[in-house]
Amino acid sequence: GWTMVNIAEDSIEAVRARVGGKRAICALSGGVDSAVAGALVQRAIGDRLTCVFVDHGLLRKGEAEQVEKDFVAATGVNLHVVDAQDRFLAVLDGVSDPEQKRKIIGREFIRVFEEAAREIVGEDAPEPVEFLVQGTLYPDVVESGGGTGAANIKSHHNVGGLPEDLQFKLVEPLRTLFKDEVRALGEQLGLPPEMVWRQPFPGPGLAIRIVGAVTRERLEILRDADAIAREELTRAGLDRDIWQFPVVLLADVRSVGVQGDGRTYGHPIVLRPVTSEDAMTADWARLPYDLLQRISTRITNEVREINRVTVDITSKPPGTIEWE
Ligand code: XMP
Repeated sequence: GWTMVNIAEDSIEAVRARVGGKRAICALSGGVDSAVAGALVQRAIGDRLTCVFVDHGLLRKGEAEQVEKDFVAATGVNLHVVDAQDRFLAVLDGVSDPEQKRKIIGREFIRVFEEAAREIVGEDAPEPVEFLVQGTLYPDVVESGGGTGAANIKSHHNVGGLPEDLQFKLVEPLRTLFKDEVRALGEQLGLPPEMVWRQPFPGPGLAIRIVGAVTRERLEILRDADAIAREELTRAGLDRDIWQFPVVLLADVRSVGVQGDGRTYGHPIVLRPVTSEDAMTADWARLPYDLLQRISTRITNEVREINRVTVDITSKPPGTIEWE
């Protein structure tokens, strides 16, 4: 019969047949697709796969550790981590336009990945690196007209292809699957549940959830507030009912507040919980008032720079899910 076990075994066999004795590399983003693709290929070819994790410093609290520790523990994958946080902060310095942020992040990601790939390709080994693993899903294939073309780092980084002299053959073991099947496969492969059930998260990460320029301090503020919101949503048992829950820092806005025994002049954050089927349209999620209360109290108590918590009650359209 048609089961996840068969799918896993068949896919592993297919990857083994395609890659043979050659080596492959895979870029992990922290998201479910690249994690499942990487785990599957690891099962097929073991240490001939090297996963690359570019830590751009724009992930949420705990997500880099999830990749570096939990994913490695669950899969035994051979992981190459690049700490590129300073590089990304440097190229984003002073940039507040959303499309500029996306472009800059996409370009820098390619640069860093390419450097890592060159190192790995150049490592002494009897078999050259010939393959690039991508977590392309069936809807991505349909959306892009079914073509494969040259190696792309998936659309979630909104970037073009790798340079000509780094041509890899693609391995896309999830090409026939939908998201729910990929999650089931991830569970089957023993990946951490936080990774398998992660809500969609944009490639440019927290950079497009800071309205204003990205700085280390602003990232820290947003990361803390976001972690509280996610923690309370999960504790209320609602994380799988909510499509996405962006938390947005209005970094260039200040308002007066009173916290403890003094006047404050801090930043507002926006809670943007939405329900959706496919992100094309969305509705604002009617989270219970007591949950919103807990999130608001905790954020204003625990994140010093935030003195106001607001909820976005706009549907898409006319709003988008993200603020940038
Ligand atoms: P919007 O904000 O347009 O978002 O309603 C629709 C979906 O796309 C995600 N999103 C992105 N994903 N790179 C991505 O990989 C991006 O630049 C980007 N911008 C938005 C957003 O999180 C939502 O799921």
